[in-house]
Amino acid sequence: MKQNNRYVKELFELLSIPSISAQTKHKKDMKKACDWLVNKLESNKFKASILPTGGHSVVYAEHLKAGSNKPTLLIYGHYDVQDPEPLDEWTSKPFKPEIRSGNIYARGSTDDKGQLYTWIAAIDELLKNKSKLPVNVKFLIEGEEEVGSKNLDEFVNQNKSLLEADICIVSDTHCISEKQSAITYGLRGIVYFEIIVKTLEKDVHSGIYGGNVLNPINVLSVMISKLKNDQHKILIPEFYENVRILSTSERKQLKTMPFTENEVVEETGAKVCVGEQSYSPQARKSARPTLDANGIWGGYQEEGIKTIIPSCAGAKISMRLVPNQTADEISAKFEKYINKITPRGVEIEVNKLADGEPIIMDRDSKYFRAAEKAYKSVFGTNPQYCLEGGSIPVTATFKTTLGKDTVLMGYGLPDDGAHGPNEKMSLSMFGKGIRTNIEFINNL
Ligand code: BES
Ligand code: MN
Ligand code: MN
Repeated sequence: MKQNNRYVKELFELLSIPSISAQTKHKKDMKKACDWLVNKLESNKFKASILPTGGHSVVYAEHLKAGSNKPTLLIYGHYDVQDPEPLDEWTSKPFKPEIRSGNIYARGSTDDKGQLYTWIAAIDELLKNKSKLPVNVKFLIEGEEEVGSKNLDEFVNQNKSLLEADICIVSDTHCISEKQSAITYGLRGIVYFEIIVKTLEKDVHSGIYGGNVLNPINVLSVMISKLKNDQHKILIPEFYENVRILSTSERKQLKTMPFTENEVVEETGAKVCVGEQSYSPQARKSARPTLDANGIWGGYQEEGIKTIIPSCAGAKISMRLVPNQTADEISAKFEKYINKITPRGVEIEVNKLADGEPIIMDRDSKYFRAAEKAYKSVFGTNPQYCLEGGSIPVTATFKTTLGKDTVLMGYGLPDDGAHGPNEKMSLSMFGKGIRTNIEFINNL
């Protein structure tokens, strides 16, 4: 794929819009991204519209001229991105896309605007000098994936017939390398909580009151330390109760995956790769649930010192779930345990911010065969099936509400840096993605 390719230029426009779904100050940018997508899809011969939800709107577009005897694809992607901080770690600005040594650098380049764009471009190519596609296509592009897709669940529930399709397609995962493609056949679920601990009415002098009152930061730290032991085992009672054991063939296949301790160390800059002892790094990320603090606040954060006991402190804590855990079950167990370990004299607030169910796909369909064939013809080798550690909450909703599986045809690379600084998408993967999508549609 060349730098001056038309689709690269178009993608740059989309990448320039700071559509950060978590932050209210970017509400206008969210709308701008919707408008941009609707315009683009309309100029690509789609009927497109912006549909409201309880939060950021979704873009829906359709091209249904193939006829009712041809399959209908529901292609999902997300136009929202995560916050790009810390900004000073970016070589070029996150919303000023730039190409350096064969990569597009920008927030959203791989997650998910670039990957979504492989479908818009592929279909545009297929429609060149033609009025029809070999299949019917519906696009569902949401703006709240990075905040848990809460409103999308409701939207899908209320628009079952609009979204009716034979198969769902998502490009929002990654390959193993430029040469070795992958189809993700399972994703972890997630529950995401914020806990706020309050012990005082106001911040007070630590010299006068220290030693006589509870410090919320200390209390919170002790509570967090009770969530996991130093063998990396989660201590919430019955947390592991419903964890699905991998089949023998899945375990065998895990061993062939290249996600090693070395890779983890290299990609993250960690000094050590650590986790549950009897599991490999690959098993830890795909078959085991996790618990992590994603943020913590409290007390004085500015320059120099301030001798106070703060009145409150908080933390964001998320858990990744695997089949057959459910978000409701784990949420209840978490909340019960948190209440149990909250000391007397502490006011605690526990808010669930997001959730999504884990999922394993049923690969037994012609759509998976068509995807395998498409990958093989573009990458030269058969794709590897793998379980991923990330979450795409709507895929489980597609299964329960529409009764359809999702083919996760990812074109990212493991070192793309999604959610981190200097996020990139490889130009060659962008090109391969477009070609694989074209092959896939032609294979149907
Ligand atoms: N594209 C990712 C999901 C993903 C990441 C799949 C890595 C496979 C490998 C998606 O945009 C994402 O980041 N989802 C969030 C969901 C959360 C905010 C509810 C996630 O997994 O953290
Ligand atoms: Mn994504
Ligand atoms: Mn993401």
